[in-house]
Amino acid sequence: MTADLFDGTADVGPAEQAIAEGAILLRGFVRPFEHDLLPALHAAIEQSPFRHMQTPGGHQMSVAMTNCGAVGWITDRSGYRYDATDPQTGQAWPAMPDVFLLLARQAATRAGFGGFVPDACLINRYEPGARMSLHQDRDERDFSAPIVSVSLGLPAIFLFGGPKRADKPLRYRLQHGDVVVWGGPSRLFFHGVAPLADGDHAALGRKRINLTFRKAR
Ligand code: SIN
Ligand code: FE2
Repeated sequence: MTADLFDGTADVGPAEQAIAEGAILLRGFVRPFEHDLLPALHAAIEQSPFRHMQTPGGHQMSVAMTNCGAVGWITDRSGYRYDATDPQTGQAWPAMPDVFLLLARQAATRAGFGGFVPDACLINRYEPGARMSLHQDRDERDFSAPIVSVSLGLPAIFLFGGPKRADKPLRYRLQHGDVVVWGGPSRLFFHGVAPLADGDHAALGRKRINLTFRKAR
């Protein structure tokens, strides 16, 4: 018997797990960055607060969103797109904090995608019951760059499917500090998040925050 049976990590599997060709789950990858990451996150949210955006079909998303970086992902009645201006504040999105860039680059490199320079970080806030239905990330210009997705706060079930919407997704439990990177052959794979279960996270309270880093332009 080893200590890790008792430290709360034994139930989450290996530290690194390939989940598809070009896709990897890096458990606890955020840990060395966390001290700087959370204050930087809170500063960004202060400048461009969370809001529930509308889909082109007129539905309000259950996940609240904001962005940092040169461009931010937005959706409204006219469609999905990247914009350099936060439509709510009328100002540029907050700059991407150095610690965000460093984390995203290191995770991408670890996954085999060296030289990743994201220009967009979508910040998703899930409260209990919020979910993200299966979708592809395809509003970016260049699919040669990967997606780097960081989980903070309450655990969630991440659904990772295949190239077709009908491909049955596998389910992965993502915890605070986990990172998923997908690119290359799985860059356009369908993915989503099951409705968030209620809970109370020591650092973030009754919510999950996801950071999605992309090269949009
Ligand atoms: C997304 O695909 O935009 C979000 C994924 C996540 O919250 O883990
Ligand atoms: Fe996505």
